[in-house]
Amino acid sequence: MAGSRSWVFLLTVCAASLFGANAEIKFTIPVGRLFTYELMRETFQNDFEPLSKLYAGRLYDDPMIFKCNRQNFPDLPEWLRFTQRQPFDNGFLYGTPTSPGKSIIEIYAVNKRSYETARHILVIKVVTEKMLPYQAEFFLKLREIEKVLPSTVQDEIKQDLQKLWDTGALEIVNFTNALDRGGRVPLPLAGHFEGVYVKVGSERYFSECLLRVLKTEHQKQCTRGGKVKIPGDCNFCSIPSNCISWCKTELFDLSKPEPEPPAPTVGSGILEAAGDFDPPESPPSRDYFPDYMVTVIVPLILAIVLCLLLAYVMFGRREGLEKRNARTNQIQLYHHHTIHGNTDELRNMAGNRGALPPLSTLPMFNCRTGERASPLQSDSPTIPLIMAQHDPYSDTLPRK
Ligand SMILES: *[C@@H]1O[C@H](CO)[C@@H](O)[C@H](O)[C@H]1NC(C)=O
Repeated sequence: MAGSRSWVFLLTVCAASLFGANAEIKFTIPVGRLFTYELMRETFQNDFEPLSKLYAGRLYDDPMIFKCNRQNFPDLPEWLRFTQRQPFDNGFLYGTPTSPGKSIIEIYAVNKRSYETARHILVIKVVTEKMLPYQAEFFLKLREIEKVLPSTVQDEIKQDLQKLWDTGALEIVNFTNALDRGGRVPLPLAGHFEGVYVKVGSERYFSECLLRVLKTEHQKQCTRGGKVKIPGDCNFCSIPSNCISWCKTELFDLSKPEPEPPAPTVGSGILEAAGDFDPPESPPSRDYFPDYMVTVIVPLILAIVLCLLLAYVMFGRREGLEKRNARTNQIQLYHHHTIHGNTDELRNMAGNRGALPPLSTLPMFNCRTGERASPLQSDSPTIPLIMAQHDPYSDTLPRK
């Protein structure tokens, strides 16, 4: 029994180390060139699903989010950035290393359906490489960073720029989301994009087309904000979204070393005697009385006035209130009295019902002809108006 359990344990360890080894991916990249790594959701999906399930024809397409950091550190290395637009998109790690070294990157994928996690390790070794002396940066207005990071798109862009530069020896140096450079978030409409800056470098000097950017005529056109005319033989974009914004094109010539800042002049180390220190005169004194009046006295007076007013309303008007209450009582008494009187009056009137009621109150009276149909036979005042009400004044009792 114990033997079989230890076997299972051994197998698990083997499998774990096997998968662990599988999950470690190594890269060796040069300094100063763009590095991109696509975090494929399919790859992580395989980690989440046992293979048997895949063969059973149940293929999930789970939403996933990624969390990347340097091993034992909370964040990514300075040069490396991560982007993923939505949980149903692949993620990208990209950036340009600036100094040699080794970074171990941990990638955690969280399955947003089952909340399982998977972990991959990326080992990036950065080696020194000669800087590309001529670099240029272009702005692609109709692009978004996630859309240019796939290698096929990178190649398309590179090919267009190779034609523009008139050389095949061209490397992509950097991609930057325009939002990271103070660009604005576009409207969520078709045809509005964030924009991407693409930096490329080459050993070869800039082509004629590129050098147009440095001409004063071109710069004037750009500052005026009008359309910039570029001759057709300098326009190489194969698809519209890869076309560059000419006015945002910048050339960097790194072949010449930057001029050293002038060395600081070293003095003797002793301050020259320059007389006594003369302190500046103190500023003229200021009169704070008006400020005091406005900020303290005026609100104080207002508060006192309001207090007095409130006190008057609370105490001075009290009597008046009581008087009014008394009057209300009187009115109520009077009402009571009049109700009594009215009732008596009504009862008196009811007692006098022996007299003939007005014609118009009789039923079947035609007011136009004045004719009466079967008067006082069917209907008589002896029929009680209100049943079961025994009132000494009512005449519900049969009349004598
Ligand atoms: C690449 O672009 C990013 C973002 O603008 C910037 O921080 C970084 O310094 C650039 N790297 C190089 C090597 O130009």
